[in-house]
Amino acid sequence: MKTTRREFGKVALGTAIGAMSGTTLIGNKAQAQTRKAHATGVYHDGIMQLNQNESARGPGPKTLEAIRAHTTKRVGMGYSPDHVNELREGIANYYGVGTENVLLSTGSTPLLEAITRAYCDENKALVIPMPTYSTSLQAARRINAKAIELPLGRDLGIDLDAVARNAEGSGLLYVCNPNNPTGTVHGPDVIEKFVRSVMRENPDVHIQIDEAYINYTRPGAMETALPLALEYENVSVTRSFSKAHGLAGMRIGYALAQAQTLEKIDAAWGLGDVNSLAAVAALTALEDEEHITWEAQENAEIRDEVVGFFRSQGHEVPDSNTNHIFVNLGMPAAKFRAACLENNILVGRDFPPLEQTHCRISLGSREQMKQAIEVFKKALG
Ligand SMILES: Cc1ncc(COP(=O)(O)O)c(C=O)c1O
Repeated sequence: MKTTRREFGKVALGTAIGAMSGTTLIGNKAQAQTRKAHATGVYHDGIMQLNQNESARGPGPKTLEAIRAHTTKRVGMGYSPDHVNELREGIANYYGVGTENVLLSTGSTPLLEAITRAYCDENKALVIPMPTYSTSLQAARRINAKAIELPLGRDLGIDLDAVARNAEGSGLLYVCNPNNPTGTVHGPDVIEKFVRSVMRENPDVHIQIDEAYINYTRPGAMETALPLALEYENVSVTRSFSKAHGLAGMRIGYALAQAQTLEKIDAAWGLGDVNSLAAVAALTALEDEEHITWEAQENAEIRDEVVGFFRSQGHEVPDSNTNHIFVNLGMPAAKFRAACLENNILVGRDFPPLEQTHCRISLGSREQMKQAIEVFKKALG
């Protein structure tokens, strides 16, 4: 039987909605709630999304203007790879590196998948502190690579000594700095010492430093590991435009490393094509320092306010260097999440092994967080 385009659309949509509402396919309740919100369309006006670490303020005015100005038949919509090349060159110039040191991707997620596939296999483990951003762990599972999951330190920061102790014979050390979900950060001296000692003792293992949240760090708290990525073949840095630059839906991320390292990563997994309009937006956003400084300042003030609230109620919260906080609620995240959801606020998913005590809360706008604090008071009982 021939399926017309229209019918195909219906079948595809039906399948997609089925998948969205099928709990067996969804890893946890929060994701199910998010997907339900997507499916029912009450995502934006009905539920305050404090479960995804997108900037509450979105991209800056210059970026929005650049998107508008380029939304023309030829430039924005037609096939125009020039802007993608311009973005790659722009990133290279911004950091003072060669274009061969920049690898673009449709969001940094495919890069995390590619790096895991490039360096891990059944005999080469992924070493991953938990909890952290989980794409690398999921990628390792997909290729049947062993994952060595390590607990965090007592301060909820990544225990870099433990990571280094597991480097021998492993394929990849994933270090999220600052870490999602805990918001903790390691300073430049600590990272340099860690990288140099691992590279001295185990030069065959790869170290990926995920700097998705670097723009939200406190002044002086960290520096990029880019110089180390340029120095060592087995070190890479990944970045995203989805966080402080407010371009999550545009899907742009990149890796910075030596050329032969990026070739290996590129060969390991499809990184997608960056679209022209996204490239224009990303380059404008990267160069708009004024907006990023404002965005970081705004986030920091809101963060102080919300962390101050939880601490005043006796809850421990590690100092955050991101646009989310990780609160010791002393109750299961699921219970808190359900109580918040009754008031139309969705907070973060479970983060094992700390899901019985801690919850990640993404930071919204000032107005949203004022409202949210009132809901948190009720949910805490
Ligand atoms: C630490 C970290 N890395 C990478 C990503 C992936 O982001 P994207 O694919 O939008 O660049 C995220 C998203 O939440 C993240 O938190």
